[in-house]
Amino acid sequence: MSDAAVPVIAIDGPSGTGKGTISRRVALWLNFHFLDSGALYRLLGLAARRGGVDLGDGQALAVLARSLDIRFEPVPGQDETSIFLNNEEVTDAIRTENCGSDASLVAAVPEVRAALLDRQRAFRVAPGLVADGRDMGTVVFPDAALKVYLTASREERANRRYKQLIGKGIGVTLDRLLKELEARDARDSGRAVAPMKPAADAVIVDTTTLNVEQVFSKVQALWNAHCER
Ligand code: DC
Repeated sequence: MSDAAVPVIAIDGPSGTGKGTISRRVALWLNFHFLDSGALYRLLGLAARRGGVDLGDGQALAVLARSLDIRFEPVPGQDETSIFLNNEEVTDAIRTENCGSDASLVAAVPEVRAALLDRQRAFRVAPGLVADGRDMGTVVFPDAALKVYLTASREERANRRYKQLIGKGIGVTLDRLLKELEARDARDSGRAVAPMKPAADAVIVDTTTLNVEQVFSKVQALWNAHCER
């Protein structure tokens, strides 16, 4: 199958919209591969911190991005993936707020985005790919068969994150989460290269008042409608 014949479902949007959960569910439903593009930026941020690389040094970050030794291992039968950096499991380590913030910083560096482009496109393997990120539908897979852009109010997104972290026993305040989300949104949508925004042909789904099941059903209906066309 040529690359163009392998269907891609692009699921973009800001953090806290349930993108990751929905994307994994859709991939499992269709038996498609799954790309968590945010994890690549998180892994790069972590590797840079550990290696003492300046998070604003485009040249050094690009070299690091091209040589990152990373592995994604799906947990069989579940909508979860174990993530490894240099053979060390970092699944939880890359999910911290600090790592998210570092990811957003390195993601704004043009050399980094160029260096990670081919690595992301290499995930496009038959029978299909669900790609989760900020620029899947606009830059990485502009020919995606279906583009969904998930949104939700900032308050609701901060609330979801708050419940998640408290559930894990991590102490945070809602106020701090709101401020961090605001800063991350501004950086992700304000950067010059591949800013976070819906593709012109994306279907926008506001998840503020929807639960995971309802969003999943909507995406299923969109994909079924696409296949019937
Ligand atoms: O989806 P996430 O929270 O794991 O993403 C972490 C950061 O990575 C996010 O703040 C912006 C960046 N990112 C990006 O710029 N482009 C993507 N396709 C995915 C993530």
